[in-house]
Amino acid sequence: MKRIAIFASGSGSNAENIITYFNTTKSAIVTFVFCNSKKAKVFDRCKRLKIPAVLFNRTDFFESEKILTQLKDTADIIVLAGFLWKVPSNLINAFPNKIINIHPALLPKYGGKGMYGMHVHNAVKENKESETGITIHFVNENYDEGAIIFQATTQLESTDSPEDIAQKIHALEYEHFPKVIESIIVQ
Ligand code: GAR
Repeated sequence: MKRIAIFASGSGSNAENIITYFNTTKSAIVTFVFCNSKKAKVFDRCKRLKIPAVLFNRTDFFESEKILTQLKDTADIIVLAGFLWKVPSNLINAFPNKIINIHPALLPKYGGKGMYGMHVHNAVKENKESETGITIHFVNENYDEGAIIFQATTQLESTDSPEDIAQKIHALEYEHFPKVIESIIVQ
């Protein structure tokens, strides 16, 4: 059975959705959640779901082989679900086309450094977009530039607030992200 490691930085609602999906389908297993923020809500979710969660810092991630060693022992695929740090090249080289990210917009629009979470939805609102969506893509060394695997779109009303947009995006993410991960795993 394929093993998934999830990286998350904050709330972790996508992490929870993925864990629950694979608990049910049994086509893969989430072995660990890695998180770079001590106060992140994802730790409470992992505790409730009985999934081991690992806190790491910048030195662990960018200047040591600590995370890489742990991943080599525990994961076949790495899923970034609301993870905000750039992935270093030692991880990318060790897991070619095995690191997947979700971005809350239709890349290449609204991607790059500083474009995450509500920043994206605020910019979409500011630009009066009539639609937005999600992009699931492989991770390379540049923010949000790896090959696109899947996109889905949602229509926006002129009355939608950035929070309404965030809600529409989360709904798309919950619907599609686990299934797209599963499709990569069974390839
Ligand atoms: C998600 O909408 C995800 O697409 C976004 O952060 C949110 C995390 O929510 N990721 C990025 O913006 C990455 N650039 P969650 O913690 O509740 O899953």
